[in-house]
Amino acid sequence: MKLFLTGGEGQLGTELIRLAAAAGVELAAPSMAAMDLTDPGRVEALFSSFRPAAVINAAAYTAVDRAEAEPQLAFAVNSAAPAHLARLCARAGIPLLHVSTDYVFDGRKRTPYLEEDPVCPLGVYGRSKADGEAAVRREVKEHLIIRTAWLYSPHGVNFLKTVVRLASEREELRIVDDQIGSPTCAADLAEAILAIACRCDRPPPIPWGTYHYCGRGETSWFGLAAHIVAALAARRRIGPVRVAPIPTRDYPTPAARPAYSVLDCSRIQAVFGISTRPWQSGVEMTLDRLPG
Ligand SMILES: NC(=O)c1ccc[n+]([C@@H]2O[C@H](COP(=O)([O-])OP(=O)(O)OC[C@H]3O[C@@H](n4cnc5c(N)ncnc54)[C@H](OP(=O)(O)O)[C@@H]3O)[C@@H](O)[C@H]2O)c1
Repeated sequence: MKLFLTGGEGQLGTELIRLAAAAGVELAAPSMAAMDLTDPGRVEALFSSFRPAAVINAAAYTAVDRAEAEPQLAFAVNSAAPAHLARLCARAGIPLLHVSTDYVFDGRKRTPYLEEDPVCPLGVYGRSKADGEAAVRREVKEHLIIRTAWLYSPHGVNFLKTVVRLASEREELRIVDDQIGSPTCAADLAEAILAIACRCDRPPPIPWGTYHYCGRGETSWFGLAAHIVAALAARRRIGPVRVAPIPTRDYPTPAARPAYSVLDCSRIQAVFGISTRPWQSGVEMTLDRLPG
């Protein structure tokens, strides 16, 4: 099975490449320098030369706050590019596995979001991702849209790594406590996506559509930071650090974020037998993979 991956240098992409290599799955992952997704001619040339059996789109414009000032670029990467990939897949008769986000929701619910809940993004990033989802649904019947949330990994920029760094520099961290979500280990998500991708060309037929995958359970950014700091202290990697909860209004950001964006993951479990792991255990595993 030959897979074509975008975003191979990102958090999720790096884990996908690592796991595919370990599983002996052939995967082409052109770098951003070799294949800018906003260059459709280049994408089509590489896609055609590789002739994949399925495409995984893990690339995205993920700078949630910067997107407010760069809406054109956010929409080009998160909406126009997936639309183009979807058309290429439809023409080749192969499936597209596309990754999306909890930020397509407005956070007004207080129970986990279902796949069919209406989207209502609060910012440019969420709107561009919701647009990308709609384009994928429109352009290629054989699609899986996998929404995830609060991703972290040993690579790139993420909240876990930021807390690890700040905890070694400061005596107190003030962290938002009124945004609730489900931290997700990128390695776990990569494993789930790879398992589904490798099933694409075998019976039984895949029930195409939208699925949720995130760490099990829920917490706030404060709860996540407190867990990370306690785990670092238990490993004797930091001295005493106080973690203080603050409201969102005390940490203003250019983009509004949903107050609650927990995703219900029962569909992916029921259809593919993929279970999620408690978010705390993914954090522990990732801390163990960090150098130092
Ligand atoms: N991170 C989260 O907390 C989170 C939460 C929910 C959903 N998601 C979704 O999960 C997926 C994976 O996220 P991630 O955290 O792995 O993202 P990431 O670490 O930011 O990686 C995204 C990758 O896409 C690349 N990219 C950006 N613009 C591109 C372009 N024009 N052409 C080619 N490549 C381009 C980036 O390259 P550069 O780094 O060089 O720009 C980066 O390597 C995305 O669909 C994201 O929306 C993420």
